[in-house]
Amino acid sequence: MDGNGRWARKRLRPRSFGHHAGQKAVRNAIEFCLRRGIAALTLFAFSSENWQRPQDEVSALMELFLKALEREVDELHGHGVRIRFVGELAAFAPALASRMRGAMDKTAANTKLALNIAVNYGGRWDIAQAAAQLARAVQAGEIDAARIDEHTLSPYLCLAELPPVDFFIRTGGEQRVSNFLLWQIAYAEIHFTATLWPDFDTAAFEHALADYAGRERRFGKTSAQIATGAG
Ligand code: IPE
Ligand code: MG
Repeated sequence: MDGNGRWARKRLRPRSFGHHAGQKAVRNAIEFCLRRGIAALTLFAFSSENWQRPQDEVSALMELFLKALEREVDELHGHGVRIRFVGELAAFAPALASRMRGAMDKTAANTKLALNIAVNYGGRWDIAQAAAQLARAVQAGEIDAARIDEHTLSPYLCLAELPPVDFFIRTGGEQRVSNFLLWQIAYAEIHFTATLWPDFDTAAFEHALADYAGRERRFGKTSAQIATGAG
């Protein structure tokens, strides 16, 4: 969800104004997924690198997260949304971390939409924490190190319970992944758009989905194989 700061600057307003406007786009994206039957939505809200931003911006974002949790969780729960925060939650203030855990516990049985919010998340961190868990399993004698392959590692990664990511959207014009899901996007279709996140509305989401619908997903096979359903 990139482009909040630039959206605000264009209006001669502080960056926090852009983050505030970005919340509306988040709401809209969630409602869009619910309406369209999209089963999982993962939002990159705060990266492990975002702590390096000016202190007042980090504080404003934390305040925004806390308020959004207070305001939105009950309604999301009512809509059957399962909320998961993915990332290193221990780094957050106790009040915020406990609200995040509360939202996850409260909505754990919901099945309509898996809403994953990546906070203090990094794709490399995710792979490293999975490797650490796997190493502990080896140490405990539960797994034979000689038999490790990608299927042994993947259950320890964030979002392992969900299908692989089909579609990856980055707003704000940059054409990079910036340490978001790395392992999970191995075969994702990627959509880069110059639209700034606060402007990412229903029409923009529809446009992105139309782009996705036009892609041929071959997963390493040939076009002919995909056409005939062979292999
Ligand atoms: C939102 O956009 C991303 C967050 C970390 C919340 P930015 O804050 O990166 O906006 P730009 O890139 O400065 O426009
Ligand atoms: Mg940015």
